[in-house]
Amino acid sequence: MTVSSPAADPKSGVFISFEGIDGSGKSTQARRLHAALEAEGRATILTREPGGSSGAEEIRALVLEGAADRWSPETELLLFTAARHDHLERTIQPALAAGQVVICDRFADSTRMYQGLRGEDIRAQVDALHDLMIGQEPDVTVLIDIDPKAGLERALGRGAGEERFESFGLGLQERLRAGFLELARAHPRFEVVDGTGSEADVAARVRKALKARGI
Ligand code: ADP
Ligand code: TYD
Repeated sequence: MTVSSPAADPKSGVFISFEGIDGSGKSTQARRLHAALEAEGRATILTREPGGSSGAEEIRALVLEGAADRWSPETELLLFTAARHDHLERTIQPALAAGQVVICDRFADSTRMYQGLRGEDIRAQVDALHDLMIGQEPDVTVLIDIDPKAGLERALGRGAGEERFESFGLGLQERLRAGFLELARAHPRFEVVDGTGSEADVAARVRKALKARGI
């Protein structure tokens, strides 16, 4: 079943995703925005992909741990999409229906890039599966843009045991960055934010960009 669109519900909240290459500072900025909106008195939830519901967190462990060739690209796509479906049904849609702001650390654009960049055939499968099973986009996507060398250094410094993707290297991160910027040019829901400078500098840029959109 395609998950229903909350956009049809006048009470529906605001759905914001954060995207970017590994180590760009997305999670840090998603957390900071959550704290800022809560401080402003907005009911806000912070969630992430893959994960964000108990079933999807189990799929996260399957897909992020182990050898880089543990899954074929197609199986991986199905696992990410299964996790997203559960996350939407159990976490995101109920929060939007209650009028909350949902801040999501990665969403479908990550699948378009990380799985879709593996080849033309799989990119078409990513889009078809999204239309068939998910059918929903964020209202705003904040793309934290940073030089891949800086991002990879930040990400490898973290040592969280989920480095199956990061171990793919700098060349991949460069293709991902270019791909994200191309998506941003094609879709007005994107806000591209410069990820350099201090955490506070980047947070101020994010807040300003969202305020300009009435959020
Ligand atoms: P992502 O979620 O994009 O992978 P994180 O938010 O986890 O990135 O940040 C990666 C690492 O870089 C973390 O150790 C974090 O503390 C650090 N970091 C995040 N933002 C900045 C910043 N603006 N300047 C320096 N280090 C940062
Ligand atoms: P995340 O925990 O956000 O990693 P990071 O903080 O390093 O950016 O995401 C884990 C990895 O999962 C990341 O390398 C991107 C990858 N990923 C996909 O390949 N496809 C997807 O659909 C999603 C949501 C994430």
